[in-house]
Amino acid sequence: MNTILNYGSCCIDHVYQVQHFVAAGETLPGTDYAVFPGGKGLNQSIAIARANGCVIHAGKIGQDGTWLKDQMHNAGVGLDHLLVSDSNTGHAIIQISRSGDNAIIIYGGTNREILASETTTFFADCAKGDLLLLQNEVSCNETAILNAKDRGMQVGFNVAPMTADVFDLPLDLVDYFVINENEGRALAATEDLETVPDRLLEQYPNCKVLLTLGEQGSWYKDATIEIRQAAFDVNMVDSTGAGDTFTGYFFAALQSGTSTQQALTRASAAAALSVTKAGAATSIPSADAVDDFLQSNPI
Ligand code: RIB
Repeated sequence: MNTILNYGSCCIDHVYQVQHFVAAGETLPGTDYAVFPGGKGLNQSIAIARANGCVIHAGKIGQDGTWLKDQMHNAGVGLDHLLVSDSNTGHAIIQISRSGDNAIIIYGGTNREILASETTTFFADCAKGDLLLLQNEVSCNETAILNAKDRGMQVGFNVAPMTADVFDLPLDLVDYFVINENEGRALAATEDLETVPDRLLEQYPNCKVLLTLGEQGSWYKDATIEIRQAAFDVNMVDSTGAGDTFTGYFFAALQSGTSTQQALTRASAAAALSVTKAGAATSIPSADAVDDFLQSNPI
């Protein structure tokens, strides 16, 4: 089995239940508060491991975040390239509304203090055919993409959060773009969601586009195939990390040799299960739970 090197963020998520998202000038009482492991990178590594994939997580935490390392270790994530420094680990302030939607502020901390020379060492165990998975919450993604391509690896980029400096990256070297609606519109520079995959394929003809559309499911398109996958209908408690669960399960399924259609179905089922529980990493289901769900909810 090829390896997935996930170079990504680890965050301490401070999660507040609120009646509505706080407005400018408002002071809003939280009705509940909890601390969870999070960060798009950590969430996606745990999702790959829970999907029985083979994943190495590369990144940086502070001493205050060593419990995040334990969480990944317990899930079966390879941690030889997780650095620990004396700075503060990245964190997120997350509001969860009564409907289960979220609003997130992230502070990069150690995730943004990773040096280009450090990213180069992350690739020591990688070879041609492996996949580099990235999100946009760490420093030096450009160096990581160039290193991956030097080794003949594929690159999957979850363009989240979407920021202007994404356009400074060598996007023509990206094999898979994983984007939600807003990220897709910004990346393809269009307001018309229906044109997003085609616009990206025009600009990057060899890429594969995976759009996650929440309750509307997901949409995959590359130069030869197009698949629209419906979402499963579940009761949403907390949507945080659903996209990460989807991304991790999708790449783990491809890694195991399934078809793109099967990978989409499995990723959708895992994401549906994740929104029925609180937290990001804590809500990611096991492969057995996804199997059971798919048996009782055939698509
Ligand atoms: O995708 C969800 C994640 O985004 C949270 O866990 C939070 O840490 C932010 O990075």
